[in-house]
Amino acid sequence: MSVAQKIALVNDKTHKQLKPATPVFSPVRALPSPPCTPHTIALNQRNKMDGLAFLSQLTDATIPAAFFDPQYRGILDKLNYGNEGKKRGKARSSLPQMPEKTIAEFTQEISRVLIPSGHLFLWMDKFHLCMGFTHWLTNTPLEIVDMVTWDKGKIGMGYRTRRKSEHLIVLQKTPRKAKGIWQSHTIPDVWQEDAPKNGFPHTKPIRLQKELIAAVSQPNDIIIDPAAGSFSVMDACQQAERQFLGCDING
Ligand SMILES: C[S@@+](CC[C@H](N)C(=O)[O-])C[C@H]1O[C@@H](n2cnc3c(N)ncnc32)[C@H](O)[C@@H]1O
Repeated sequence: MSVAQKIALVNDKTHKQLKPATPVFSPVRALPSPPCTPHTIALNQRNKMDGLAFLSQLTDATIPAAFFDPQYRGILDKLNYGNEGKKRGKARSSLPQMPEKTIAEFTQEISRVLIPSGHLFLWMDKFHLCMGFTHWLTNTPLEIVDMVTWDKGKIGMGYRTRRKSEHLIVLQKTPRKAKGIWQSHTIPDVWQEDAPKNGFPHTKPIRLQKELIAAVSQPNDIIIDPAAGSFSVMDACQQAERQFLGCDING
């Protein structure tokens, strides 16, 4: 074998080693579960820390799915029901609110830690849904691929219509594809489920989150939530037999 042929062979082998395993998700997914979790953050626990500090400790391209439910100012600021800080509005208004810039920073960091074709499930209030949120996705490899409306059953506040729903935007890191990645075809895009009764003002539906987790990941994969509130995603992970890694600034 000539020297040139030997060099070509070595280059070819090196290239094959560096090439990412494909496909990302399928019953025969070649990509292993996230290779490492930081020693300072416990799996399947209610970690108390800042979500951006949490995300900064995660390795690039290791997480198949993330949930993010920012503490939006939208409803409080724009609709101003007048009960902020009083009785029913007290628990809601006492939670730390997230400025737009911080939400964009979270989105950026989440996109960094997602594996290729990984998913971000982004909870969204009515105000941001109507006014637009795509500026949070600028310079990220995230694309909008779907949306689920959660019908909470119980009627809430509203000067005009009374609120009964919340929205979940489904974002996918490039490369965008469903085949071999989204493994469930039984999830309707309007989902009825009562809110869990755990006393937390913004808790999200566990069964829906469990179905979504099961649709885009495999047993024992690590699912993250950097602003976990009541840790409903941890409960959903437990039911779906996935590992949970997450935190809330309030613990
Ligand atoms: C809307 S709630 C999340 C509710 C959650 N999805 C659930 O099902 O319970 C938003 C949470 O973000 C938390 N939060 C606000 N700023 C944060 C930050 N910088 N880091 C981590 N958590 C933060 C708040 O304490 C609040 O619990």
